[in-house]
Amino acid sequence: MSDQQGQAATRTYPPDPELSKSANARPEMKEQGLEEFWDEQAKQRISWFEDYDTVLEWNQPYAKWFVGGTLNACYNCVDRHVENGKGDKVALHAVPDDGPDSPDAQDITFSDLQRRVVAFANGLRKLGVGKGVPVGIYMQMIPDAVVAMLACARLGAPHTVVFGGFSGKAVAERCNDLECTVLVTQDEALRGGKSFPQKVNADEGLDGGPTSVEKVVVFRRTGGDVPMGDRDVYADELMSDVSDDPSECPCEPMDAEDLLFLLYTSGSTGKPKGVVHTTGGYLTGVTTTHNLVFDVKEDSVYWCAADIGWITGHSYIVYGPLSNGVTSVLYEGVPGYPDKDVWWKIVEKYGVTILYTSPTAIRSHIKWGPEHAQKHDLSTIRILGSVGEPINPEVWEWYHEHIGGGKAPVMDTWWQTETGHILITPLPGITTLKPGSAQQPFPGLEFEVRDDEGNALGANEPGNLVLTRPWPGMMRGLYKDDQRYRETYWSKYSDAYFAGDGAKFDDDGDLQLMGRIDDVTNVSGHRISTFEVESALVEHEKVAEAAVAARRDPDTGQAIVAFVSLKGGNEGDDELKQVLREHVAKQIGKLARPAELIFASDLPKTRSGKIMRRLLKNIAEGEELGDTSTLVDPTVVEDMKKQVGAK
Ligand code: WT7
Repeated sequence: MSDQQGQAATRTYPPDPELSKSANARPEMKEQGLEEFWDEQAKQRISWFEDYDTVLEWNQPYAKWFVGGTLNACYNCVDRHVENGKGDKVALHAVPDDGPDSPDAQDITFSDLQRRVVAFANGLRKLGVGKGVPVGIYMQMIPDAVVAMLACARLGAPHTVVFGGFSGKAVAERCNDLECTVLVTQDEALRGGKSFPQKVNADEGLDGGPTSVEKVVVFRRTGGDVPMGDRDVYADELMSDVSDDPSECPCEPMDAEDLLFLLYTSGSTGKPKGVVHTTGGYLTGVTTTHNLVFDVKEDSVYWCAADIGWITGHSYIVYGPLSNGVTSVLYEGVPGYPDKDVWWKIVEKYGVTILYTSPTAIRSHIKWGPEHAQKHDLSTIRILGSVGEPINPEVWEWYHEHIGGGKAPVMDTWWQTETGHILITPLPGITTLKPGSAQQPFPGLEFEVRDDEGNALGANEPGNLVLTRPWPGMMRGLYKDDQRYRETYWSKYSDAYFAGDGAKFDDDGDLQLMGRIDDVTNVSGHRISTFEVESALVEHEKVAEAAVAARRDPDTGQAIVAFVSLKGGNEGDDELKQVLREHVAKQIGKLARPAELIFASDLPKTRSGKIMRRLLKNIAEGEELGDTSTLVDPTVVEDMKKQVGAK
């Protein structure tokens, strides 16, 4: 659990009456029935080619929303805005790695976006991509990544985006699982002034074994000299002879329940899970939540500083904001490069009105001091958002004060890859804000906090967060794994979705999230399973056994601590520690590299041979160990404790 536990807000913030008057969200929405609410939203916000005849068909654990309707996500995100006379409106202020003053900054209008998407979709068609043909995307935060996703949606080709910082191995595994024949990538990526070998990484992964991928399409970002083989084609060459006229590549009508994308995410065991998202419910869910939670207006300038490789990027960089026809910032870089004030320069230059980011990013800004923000005019900011991990009340207060000018309400939004869109959040102009609490279910939803026996708990009793009703963007299962879907989410309680998070209600009925209760860690808002890191470690020739736990970290929320025993009873040294940490980075991606690695002659096991994970967690946190009498060899933990202390 996070360090949130037990921390109550000291102050509350009632809504600004001006905001209440003009807010998109209305208090009556909470009174509407589930189907009534979503029916109204779907009709108001989404353009359907053919109307649906049933709002919801619920056969727990599978939902079908807007049954019988047809639509296209790309049409909703791009074409309809051009048809409605908004072609010249900026869709994306694309800010490159070297910041908003860079000559490479681009303002891409909805018409520009349409032409680029049509041209790329026509290019993909030449490679046999069409309705139902899955495509892998391994890119970083450049406009072509958004173009690639929308081109797939236009053709009805499901995409799976693999986070650009993951290893080539991770790319190959995911593409092979979904049987992608085409992978879209870029030559190199730029992050914080450093180049990252995207294409070379992809090749390494694909060449590591048999693969379904037959063609690799390469967008040029740096123009660097990357090896191109028979399998490869540059995107610009693929598009050299295609039309960018939308009438030459109409948006494919998709059934509301047709697959829009798969996104792989970590579970507590086994390989990453392919979370299935379909078209109608997902698009309705992200468009509605984006509109109401961030109170978007025609002239809003919205910036979500996440990455398209995660669900936040899918829902709140690409599909939600574009479907709402909003002007967004798309930023390639990282906080703090080229200067510590680059974020605030971006806000000032484009007049950002809504900023959505993670507690980890805010903590970096806190560390650097408020003077960087103070150098810039941030007075355009109306709404702030937070996502990915519990936000500490102090961090909330800093964000509100220094970025929001003491006025802009902070929306602490709880949701998951599996939920598709925001489910627990305050609403601007309605909710009295309580720092450190995500507070209230979104209209149409209900939550409970239950104990392990299934009893609903009351105020101040921590337990497991469950959802008792379906929602439109909910996952439609795990790809080709019905059993795992049922076991992971629907077996703990027979009648509710088990989220895997701890939570408690306070005296006012507001909900406070308390972190994961399973073996999934949250490092800088990135979800990493201890199992995956353990698997990567034991793949190293010198490692006999590995176990991974997380400890609290003031900067990254949690940090990974790995416990390793070596083959042949060998003792490790600092050099091997480095080697193993890098090995994990290479196998999974840098984000999974253990912050700390501890060698042990053996891992703490019970007599039945089970690793005692609770103990490892205590050791990682530097806590008292309690009862160790059930261990085969209690001395192993003493030895480990000394190493943690010695760091
Ligand atoms: C897990 C889901 C939601 C998009 C980003 C992460 C944690 C997320 C909050 C929040 C407390 C949060 C939960 C959840 N989480 N938002 N506002 N307060 N915890 O998506 O990778 O699927 O991770 O992130 O533990 O289960 P994800």
